[in-house]
This record gives sequence, structure tokens and C-alpha cells, in this order.
Amino acid sequence: MFCAEGRGNREVLRLILPPAETDTSILSNVVTIVGNRQRVSYTAHAVQIVNSTLARAGVAVEVLHGADLNLAFPGDPVTSDAKRLEETVAEADAVILATPEYHGTYSAFLKLVIESLGYPSALQGKPVAMLGVAGGRLGATKSLEQLRNTCAHTGALVLPGAVSIAHAKDAFDTEGHCTDGAVHAALEGLAGSLLDFLHTFVQPRHVLENMIAAGIDVPWKPERS
Ligand SMILES: Cc1cc2nc3c(=O)[nH]c(=O)nc-3n(C[C@H](O)[C@H](O)[C@H](O)COP(=O)(O)O)c2cc1C
Repeated sequence: MFCAEGRGNREVLRLILPPAETDTSILSNVVTIVGNRQRVSYTAHAVQIVNSTLARAGVAVEVLHGADLNLAFPGDPVTSDAKRLEETVAEADAVILATPEYHGTYSAFLKLVIESLGYPSALQGKPVAMLGVAGGRLGATKSLEQLRNTCAHTGALVLPGAVSIAHAKDAFDTEGHCTDGAVHAALEGLAGSLLDFLHTFVQPRHVLENMIAAGIDVPWKPERS
């Protein structure tokens, strides 16, 4: 993104970044929102795989589970959970939205989550990755298509490669371990795509901001801080 060679910039980077052996992805934080209310679900099991892949790469991951969120419909008094949700999303580098498929669409609870993120939305300009979990053989493609539309409408940067899981009960055992290698690989792939995006587009901005904050002369300054 910006030059690490010449003008001593490599030395400058060494001052700001963690040691070379440390994964610089610690410069990113991701919030995952589980879009159903029951604590134990296939959606939550799937999220676990994505999040542990991200965590192994050094990303700070926060999970906001539907079971813990008391949200009100628009027009009713805003709850403290809604404020926390909006603040957390606003501060995140990226968001993962996970939903069960209900009647050919994403969960009503996840819609309420999105409605609780303000208008304009805290999702505006935010990279969003998504996954959907369905009981049927068609998977959650319809849910994801509609979720993609809603998120795009808020101004989110919807990342390609959403993961749809079909026949959820066949993909996980009773303890929630994924027993389907292809599903497992797809969920790790979702995390990998998000990591690529963060490495390419988000972390360089953080490094640049750190340089500016440290008073180091940089070849370019963002118009907005
Ligand atoms: C109200 C309701 C509607 C559902 N609609 C669909 C559907 O349209 N297509 C489908 O494949 N599965 C449907 N299912 C099954 C769920 O997608 C399935 O139970 C899935 O495991 C839900 O994910 P969860 O375990 O994270 O709750 C529905 C389940 C419920 C409770």
C-alpha cells in the first residue's frame, strides 16, 4: 500500500509494528454476530470454526450472540444492548453475519440486529462476510442473497464467497463438531478470504494511522482521520 523500501520506511515500520515473527493481523478486530436466539445451534457451531481460524491468525474476534442481545423494534426505546451492538460494529474492522435459514430467508432476529445498527447504519463502509445454515438440501442460498441485498443497501462492503450449509444436522455431530470435510474447508475458506481482505485493505491503513499518530512523516495522508 505504501512504500516500505527506501527513505528508511522499513526501519520506521519496525518501530511501529510488532516483531517480524508476530502476525500483523493482530492489527484487526472482527465482530461476529450470531443471528439466532438459542444458545446452542448449528449456526453457532459453524461460527466457531470461522472464528477459531481467525483467532489462530491473530485477529481479535468478538462474538455477539443473539441469546445475549435484548433488542427493541424501531420506534421503541433503544436498549443498552442495542447501543453496545452499534458501538461494537462501528469500531470493528469487519463484521461476520451468521444466520439460520427460516422460510427461505435470513432470521427475523438478524433483521432486527441490522435495524438496531442505526440509520445511516454502522455497517456503512464495513467489510461484511456472511454464512447461512439450513436444514434443507438447498442450503441457505436464498437467505444469503437477501442478506447480501440488505447489507449492500446499508452501504456495507459485502465480501464475495458467502458460505451456505445445507443439511445442517448431517454436517455436525451431537457435540457440535463439524463432521463434513467440505463444510469445514468452506468455513475456514471464509475466514481466509476475510484475512486476505484485512491484510490487503485494512491493516495498511492502521499502520499508516499509527505512523501519523507517532508524528512520522508519511508520503500520503488520508483526507479523513
Ligand atoms: C421457523 C423455521 C423455518 C425454517 N425454514 C427453513 C427453510 O426455509 N429452509 C430450510 O432449509 N430449513 C428451514 N428451517 C430449518 C432450519 O434452517 C434448520 O433447523 C437450521 O438448522 C437452523 O439453524 P440453527 O440450528 O442455527 O438454528 C426452518 C426452521 C424453522 C424453525
